Amino acid sequence: MKQPSERSRRRTSRAAAGTQSQPSQLLLDKLAERLAFERGGIQFYDALIGKFEASQDSSTSMTLADLQKIRQDEARHADMLAGAIAGIGGEPDAPTPSAELVGIESQGLKQVLDDPDSTIAQSLHALLVAEMTDNAGWELLIALAEDQEHMALISDFSVALDEERAHLMQVQHWYEEAMIGRAVSDGALIDDVSDMNPSSSLH
Ligand SMILES: [Fe+2]
Repeated sequence: MKQPSERSRRRTSRAAAGTQSQPSQLLLDKLAERLAFERGGIQFYDALIGKFEASQDSSTSMTLADLQKIRQDEARHADMLAGAIAGIGGEPDAPTPSAELVGIESQGLKQVLDDPDSTIAQSLHALLVAEMTDNAGWELLIALAEDQEHMALISDFSVALDEERAHLMQVQHWYEEAMIGRAVSDGALIDDVSDMNPSSSLH
């Protein structure tokens, strides 16, 4: 018989005690972190939209509408997070330790995206870092909300995670197109990995 997880044991014991969980400092800190990073994401996409419009780059299948859609998602996520923090008694703009940390981390990504000399490929690499972080961040928030029984948050957070997964797949695909060419990225010229590395046939 499957043993209950540590998380479900904690939930059961809280339910038995009749206690309603309060937002922990950890949850508020991680919500503020995600809010800070999503706000950064809006700026990242604004920068890439400007660069993309100026360059008329066609090395990827990325479109202006794609970028504007992702930017809208990031803005919606930020609004939702601010509402979630306020809804459980927190202060959305509080400079929590994790919010300050991602603020510093974001500066490097923003520097790349704001640099007029950075290429579309370099900008997409910076966005790849951001989107991978987005995905891990939402997964952690869903686990924390579940652990602390803030069930009302989980549905909205799950929608955000699905959207972030789509962002990551898109950005990764565009980055690969920018690096190795659209036809190759789409699999039109390469059937398998060994075709990309002729030396592999020597081993
Ligand atoms: Fe994203």
